[in-house]
Amino acid sequence: MLPGRQRANRDDGCAPLGQRQWSIARPLTFHSSTDALEVALTDDVLVVHGGTPLQGQIRVRGAKNLVSKAMVAALLGDSPSRLYDVPRIRDVEVVRGLLDLHGVRVTDGDEDGELVFDPANVESASTDEINVHAGSSRIPILFCGPLLHRLGHAFIPDLGGCHIGPRPIDFHMQALREFGAVVEKRPEGLHLTAPNGLHGTKFSLPYPSVGATEQVLLTAVMADGVTELRNAAVEPEIIDLICILQKMGAIIKVHTDRVIEIQGVPRLGGYHHRPIPDRIEAASWAAAALATRGDVEVLGAQQVDMMTFLNVFRSVGGAYEVTDARPPRLGSAGQEGGIRFWHPGGELKSVALETDVHPGFMTDWQQPLVVALTQARGLSIVHETVYEQRLGYTEALNSMGANIQVYRDCLGGTPCRFGRRNFKHSAVIAGPSKLHAADLVIPDLRAGFSHLIAALAAEGTSRVYGVDLINRGYEDFEAKLASLGAHAERP
Ligand code: EPZ
Repeated sequence: MLPGRQRANRDDGCAPLGQRQWSIARPLTFHSSTDALEVALTDDVLVVHGGTPLQGQIRVRGAKNLVSKAMVAALLGDSPSRLYDVPRIRDVEVVRGLLDLHGVRVTDGDEDGELVFDPANVESASTDEINVHAGSSRIPILFCGPLLHRLGHAFIPDLGGCHIGPRPIDFHMQALREFGAVVEKRPEGLHLTAPNGLHGTKFSLPYPSVGATEQVLLTAVMADGVTELRNAAVEPEIIDLICILQKMGAIIKVHTDRVIEIQGVPRLGGYHHRPIPDRIEAASWAAAALATRGDVEVLGAQQVDMMTFLNVFRSVGGAYEVTDARPPRLGSAGQEGGIRFWHPGGELKSVALETDVHPGFMTDWQQPLVVALTQARGLSIVHETVYEQRLGYTEALNSMGANIQVYRDCLGGTPCRFGRRNFKHSAVIAGPSKLHAADLVIPDLRAGFSHLIAALAAEGTSRVYGVDLINRGYEDFEAKLASLGAHAERP
């Protein structure tokens, strides 16, 4: 049992369970995806009465993994920016806090979900103030380039984010050094300077990392000269960030074969932008509909960025219908587009899938969908090739009656970079399994949502602990659950 402690001030909500702080009322035994351990009863719990199909309509807003980066980009402009459809999630709050510390005035716009950023008075913040955000998110690493451009120096606190593997930042550091940054690692965080300014460079990423590509973009746009980035990530969120930077005045060419060329410019202005919708959230609700034999329309979901997911969803036996948006016309109201996902009845089919960089099957779609795969007949195979430790959560599903084995081998597809490195990164899911209720502790954001789906699909009453973590990336998820007819309540 963990010793009695108060909840830490800076719990990032994603810390490994052994490091998470809880106030104790009574000890319980839980099945978590990281460890089977005893933790204390907290009020951060959702009681879920499973077995009811989710039915109804919800809406997704701007993608978490674009919005946070768009907010950082506003720091580069010399005039205000406006971002629409910003979800109320914790990652947004963290970035807003960091911008505020650096003198960017962030205010709510007229529209619900609109934020306005005024970077007129960008200033240095103290290390202590910045460190209040240590461990809260991975986004601070993207402040490097913009702060170097605006202030000539940057301090980056320890990073947070979900613990789904080591998540190194070596590509970021290599790239920044190539631009001319001097990086000093100190116990309290990273100090960066650029004594000779930042200069365009030729750089090839060892792996098409999303964050490192964004790092290069946010630095190269105002660096002196041309930057050529090879083996870049080209996720839709990155293309949307490029659109934002282009609106600000940047010159960026996306070539074939993952090559991006950036012509540095001396100044950038502000932007007005409506971000792409959150395709991870949309797929999470789709998986929830399938696992609970339900029918959920996700307004705002866009087919083009979810094509790979839709193919797998259909192969498993799920049904979907894309409704295109219709602008209002004289005499008729408009219609918001979206995608309706449902379980058409009968049995689901097993599949073999491999997570990959875009346009592959997203690693963040994997955990929610695996819950539905526990209901498919036969053996499904999931080969996780983006993160080396993203299958630990399957232990919790097994504690609910699922039959999932994890392997170190690269199963069901091409060998990946984890194959010879002793990581359990392939899963075989035998189904269908009847899921029963359990007490669960949420280990990270996406695995957390999969625990929630499992509790909704299971027979009986589950207690899901640490649910507040889901607020990091899913706006109003409890209200959405209620609107879909889920029986879930705070005790
Ligand atoms: C982004 O993380 C997303 N986070 C992740 O979503 C997402 O899973 C991931 O991209 C892949 O799509 C945000 O956008 C905030 P990477 P990021 O750099 O940028 C290795 C969620 O739940 N790598 O593409 O950190 C790394 O270890 C989150 O919303 C290095 O080795 O991911 C990983 O194996 C979770 N060195 C792989 O690259 C580096 O310097 C891909 O990571 C950087 C990355």
